[in-house]
Amino acid sequence: MTNIPPRAVRTLRLSCRPMMTDHTPTSSSGTTHFGFRTVAEEEKVSLVRDVFDSVAGKYDLMNDLMSAGVHRLWKSAFLDMLRPQPGQTLLDVGGGTGDIAFGWKKRGGGPVTVCDINREMLAVGRDRSYDRNLVGDVSWVCGNAESLPIPSRSVDRYTIAFCLRNVTHWDRAIAEAYRVLKPGGRFMCLEFSHVILPGLKQLYDTYSFTILPKVGGMVTGNAEAYQYLVESIRKFPPQEEMVAMVRNAGFEQVSVRNLSAGIAAIHSGWRL
Ligand SMILES: C[S@@+](CC[C@H](N)C(=O)[O-])C[C@H]1O[C@@H](n2cnc3c(N)ncnc32)[C@H](O)[C@@H]1O
Repeated sequence: MTNIPPRAVRTLRLSCRPMMTDHTPTSSSGTTHFGFRTVAEEEKVSLVRDVFDSVAGKYDLMNDLMSAGVHRLWKSAFLDMLRPQPGQTLLDVGGGTGDIAFGWKKRGGGPVTVCDINREMLAVGRDRSYDRNLVGDVSWVCGNAESLPIPSRSVDRYTIAFCLRNVTHWDRAIAEAYRVLKPGGRFMCLEFSHVILPGLKQLYDTYSFTILPKVGGMVTGNAEAYQYLVESIRKFPPQEEMVAMVRNAGFEQVSVRNLSAGIAAIHSGWRL
């Protein structure tokens, strides 16, 4: 397990080179997708890392801009469903700059660990924890969702917000969630999904493909990162397929809740 050092000693270039990974449906030829591009499975992790390296400093600002603040409402709904308790531990995978972890603590949750593949995102999160007086309350760990540096059956709640579609093998990440959860533990995923209102879909597609990459380019200097975001959302399985994936990993009482007519969705399952 690699912990992120405090800000004072975080002067060296941070790097995190975890094990290579991939996804479902990965082709038998060893390729997968990166947005609409087909890439070698081994390539995807570093491509995703480059995306988040380049946007880390402006990530939170862009979230507010591109969703007009709505991502805060989605995260709030997610945390409401999670119902944090003081005696419970949370592992937030792909936790990046810490929104879910901070929300968990603010609502009275117990010890929380943020695990992310990208040290730049974790470093921003750790800095934000200083501003919120939560420095000692959150552990920051660098690791891959597909091979978590976390013991089996060790956490009460597992969350993954807007991360899963970036993972190469979605099924492996969900299997890892199952492994690290204690019996009685809950898996919850907040992710972009598929719009269920035809009229809204057209509007959303126009916004996504024409405006969003331009705004992303202006704010972060990396329009491609936001083109990737838009494309990766389209490549992610629809709600019911995701339900099946969560069930296949062994979770029970699997449910899905659409947010904003399916622009995002929350999937939940229990390890019994
Ligand atoms: C869109 S951000 C979401 C951050 C945060 N959860 C939120 O909701 O604001 C996606 C995060 O997933 C991380 N990530 C991508 N692939 C990952 C992987 N295979 N394992 C762990 N983290 C990953 C990225 O580094 C990034 O911080």
